[in-house]
Amino acid sequence: MAIQMNIAITALLLLFTLIPIVECTDIDVVANFGAVADGQTDLSLPLMNAWKEACASPEPVNIVIPEGTYLLSEATLNGPCQAPISLQLQGTLMAPEDPTVFKEPTWVSISYVDSLTMFGGGVFDGQGATAWGQNDCSKNKNCVKLPINIRFHNVKNSLIQDITTKDSKQFHVNVLGCSNITFQSFTVSAPEESLNTDGIHIGRSDGVYILDSKIETGDDCVSLGDGSNNVKVQGVTCGPGHGISIGSLGKYKNEEPISGVFVTQCTLANTMNGVRIKTWPASQPGSATDIHFEDITMDNVGNPILVDQEYCPWNQCDLSVPSRVQLSKLSFKNIRGTSKTQIAVKLICSSGLPCDEVELADIDLTYNGPEGPAISQCSNVHPALSGVQNPAACSSQPTGEAAP
Ligand SMILES: *[C@@H]1O[C@H](CO)[C@@H](O)[C@H](O)[C@H]1NC(C)=O
Repeated sequence: MAIQMNIAITALLLLFTLIPIVECTDIDVVANFGAVADGQTDLSLPLMNAWKEACASPEPVNIVIPEGTYLLSEATLNGPCQAPISLQLQGTLMAPEDPTVFKEPTWVSISYVDSLTMFGGGVFDGQGATAWGQNDCSKNKNCVKLPINIRFHNVKNSLIQDITTKDSKQFHVNVLGCSNITFQSFTVSAPEESLNTDGIHIGRSDGVYILDSKIETGDDCVSLGDGSNNVKVQGVTCGPGHGISIGSLGKYKNEEPISGVFVTQCTLANTMNGVRIKTWPASQPGSATDIHFEDITMDNVGNPILVDQEYCPWNQCDLSVPSRVQLSKLSFKNIRGTSKTQIAVKLICSSGLPCDEVELADIDLTYNGPEGPAISQCSNVHPALSGVQNPAACSSQPTGEAAP
């Protein structure tokens, strides 16, 4: 009788101690799926098996990748999952150095997931140094596409926090078809000479938030393609790199509008450009509206404020035909610091579709060069002005255009 009671009590106690574990299960790729943190054994299969199990669970599961260095050949992590899922990356994942071993131009791909949390302080190391020299996609249409470090495709209601992506062979992060996805305390790290390594590229998404993050890379810090809506970039430090960029737009048919972009409290240091909107001349139709840059510090930045509707690298276009992308409701407020180029503010809008409702407020950008102090250039735009204007707004005309 007493023994039976004891068994009953023990069973009850066991049940109670198990309940909280059931509510938040951790599975560990090393302890449960045979991963080895030796920098050589491929993590791909253990990680994908862990993902399959976690994704099928009706209860939330946290996949742990403990500290250590892992080789990861490739990973495709697809939903939909039965419940929220999280990936706690504490270790460093290393991509194969050879760019030709990838089946797709993506190293880690996460698709069709609702309520993903990624956290843990770990690193995605794309090992791109040898690949950067092999990238000629800007000039060669039949080039080999280099892999992106992490691709989020149709991911919703998700948080990526305290994660680093390093030395990607191509873009570090591509956000496509996502909604309500936040990058917080996110780090991108690659040298200035790394080609085409945009930090975070966003396209066809609604609700993308990049907060309190640090992006050092060889190309755009954050770049927005068509169909980017409700994007917030706040408290981000960029540099080296090419700055924060919207576009280029108008190159392809059926591009979706861009609307609702708020870039605030950011610092750009030693970047090739500051905040920029670019569209191709002789373009397809399109639009970008409701775009705001506020409280931005520029530290030795080239072209700190740049709207360029005659964007035409490598002279691949007909500059005599204006861009058909309409830009409207643009504001630049409280933008201060130092310019690396004399033209600190350049607003070159389309002669076919002038920029509409542009606002410049409290601009204070200085230039120290032999040509003299900073100047600004405008065409096909009449910005509303308030507060400080240094350089004087629209102080010079681009060559070829008569002064007003
Ligand atoms: C957006 O995603 C976050 C997770 O980062 C979640 O907590 C929040 O509820 C989501 N918001 C909406 C409106 O679904």
